[in-house]
Amino acid sequence: MSLLLAQGLRKSFGETRAVNGVDFRVEPEELISLVGSNGAGKTTLVNLLSGLLRPDAGQIAFDGADITALSVGARIRAGIARSFQLVNLFDQLNVLDNVRLAIFSRDGVTRQPLRLAERDTRARNEAMEILGEFGLESKWDTPAAGLAQGERKLLDVAVAYALRPKLILLDEPTSGVGTREKGVIMEAIASVVRERFLAAVIVEHDMDVVFTYSDRIVMMHQGAVLAEGTPDQIRADERVSAVLLGKG
Ligand SMILES: Nc1ncnc2c1ncn2[C@@H]1O[C@H](COP(=O)(O)OP(=O)(O)OP(=O)(O)O)[C@@H](O)[C@H]1O
Ligand SMILES: [Mg+2]
Repeated sequence: MSLLLAQGLRKSFGETRAVNGVDFRVEPEELISLVGSNGAGKTTLVNLLSGLLRPDAGQIAFDGADITALSVGARIRAGIARSFQLVNLFDQLNVLDNVRLAIFSRDGVTRQPLRLAERDTRARNEAMEILGEFGLESKWDTPAAGLAQGERKLLDVAVAYALRPKLILLDEPTSGVGTREKGVIMEAIASVVRERFLAAVIVEHDMDVVFTYSDRIVMMHQGAVLAEGTPDQIRADERVSAVLLGKG
């Protein structure tokens, strides 16, 4: 059974058909890259899957349940977390506290009968462990505003990961950073996804990165899925190269 199955998704903004009849599936433990030129509808699709937007038409099932009508919070509890194209951090808080906040919000106030001090220690330890997985532990005390762009992007992913999702949706986790740093970020993300058996949908423009890390690639064009397949299949697809060369 697919982990996520979306069928017939549509979302328009006025006359703009941002997502125009998309079927999309994610298998357990699969790393999918979502590619396509600016305005193709990638972020809109991620917003529909994460619950930030409601579709005009279509259904989304996750883990066997219909989640089409669920709020963002309910989808997080079901196991879907995301990061944003523009990072969404508490700039004045340090790196550790950004992750700790996610842990607290995940566990809720009432469901844990532990004493406050004990909860705090546990959350701190867990947050440090997560920072270690993303190579950010030495920065634990730095305010998020004081991080380099690549570190900010990684921290945003770490915050989403701290919600312990089954599926993580990452909207351009490497945007705005240099080529070398892109590699570092994707290496960290891919190793967490593999080691923790997560499924991931990663919006990415750099095709070298996409071909290196994906199990499957889905290319969107003008609100629809133009092509999908393994890196080898996508490399050989002439419609894909036409779009990539700007002839689509
Ligand atoms: N909130 C909105 N209001 C109006 N139009 C929107 C809104 N969000 C997206 N659009 C439009 O929908 C289309 C798809 O946008 P979307 O942001 O999903 O593309 P994208 O593939 O993520 O592009 P990019 O690579 O630039 O991030 C674009 O034409 C965009 O201008
Ligand atoms: Mg986008």
